[in-house]
Amino acid sequence: MLPQSTFADQVAIVTGGGTGLGYGIAERLGQLGARVVLVSRNPEHVEPAAERLRQQGIEAIGIPTDVRQPDQVERMVEETMSRLGRIDLLVNGAAGNFTVDAEKLSVNGFNAVVGSVLHGTFYCTRACGLKMIASGRGGRILNIVATYAWTGGPRNLHSAVAKAGVVTMTRTLAVEWARYNIRVNAIAPGPTDTEGARAALWSDPEISRRVLGRIPVGRFGTVAEVANAAAYLLSPYADFINGEVLVIDGGEWLGKGLTS
Ligand code: HXC
Repeated sequence: MLPQSTFADQVAIVTGGGTGLGYGIAERLGQLGARVVLVSRNPEHVEPAAERLRQQGIEAIGIPTDVRQPDQVERMVEETMSRLGRIDLLVNGAAGNFTVDAEKLSVNGFNAVVGSVLHGTFYCTRACGLKMIASGRGGRILNIVATYAWTGGPRNLHSAVAKAGVVTMTRTLAVEWARYNIRVNAIAPGPTDTEGARAALWSDPEISRRVLGRIPVGRFGTVAEVANAAAYLLSPYADFINGEVLVIDGGEWLGKGLTS
C-alpha cells in the first residue's frame, strides 16, 4: 500500500470521475491525500459522487464538462485553478462506447466516440499540461486505454482506433514533456466488475461465461485493483516509468496457445 500522504496537497482532475473506474480511481487518490476534481458530462453523476467523497473526508468538487467541447474543458481547468490553485495529476477516464458492426456505424456514432476518447483526451491533456508547464513543477498524466488498441477491436472500431490514438499520445508526450517533469503513462483495464459494465456488457449469463472463459485467472477484475495500479503509476514510486501502458486484465489479451 502507498503511504496515506502520497498525494498530500496535490490536485487531481479525473475525467469520467462520476462513475465506475473513474470514480474508483478518484476515491483512491483522495484516500491518499489528493484534492479531487470529478469531471463528467452528466451533472447528475458528478455532484452526488463528489458528495460521497466529501463524506469520507476527501476534499472534492464536481465540475460538469463535456470533454468533447474544448471551451468547456478550458472553463473546467480555469475553475479548478481558481478554486484549488494548482493541477498536479490528470486522469483521462472519460469515454464513450457501444458495440456495433462496422458497416452499421454511422458518421455521428464514430464522431461521438472518437470525440470523447481521442479529442477529449487531447483537449484535457493540453489544457492541464499548459498549467503544469507554467507552474514549473510539472505533473503526472494517466490515460485509460484498452488492449484492442493493438489487437484491433471488431464491433468496437470507433473506440479501438481512438484508444490506439491515445496510446500514441501517451508515448509521444512521455518523451516530449519529460523536460517539463511531466510523466505520461496509461493503463489498459480488461473486463472489470463495475455496475455499468455488468449492465451494458455481460448481464446475459451466457455472455458473462464467455467473457470469463477468456480470462486465464478466471474472474473479472475489481475497481480496487485498477485504482491501486493507477495510484501507483501516478505516484513518486513510479517516477522512472514513463510512456508505459500497464495492462490489468488477468492475462485476457494474451494468446492462449493450445490451452482449452
Ligand atoms: C449504434 C449508436 C449507439 C448504438 C449511439 N449510437 N449508441 N449507434 N449502436 N448502441 C449513435 C447514434 O445513433 C448517433 O448517430 C451517434 O451514435 C451519437 O449518439 P448520441 O446518443 O446522440 O450521442 P451522445 O449522447 O453524445 O452519446 C455518446 C455515446 C454514449 C458514446 C453514444 O454511449 C455515451 O455517452 N456513453 C458514455 C458512457 C460510456 O459509454 N462509457 C463506456 C466507456 S467503457 P446517428 O447517426 O444516429 O445520429 C469503454 C471500455 C472499453 O470504452 C474497453 C473494455 C475492455
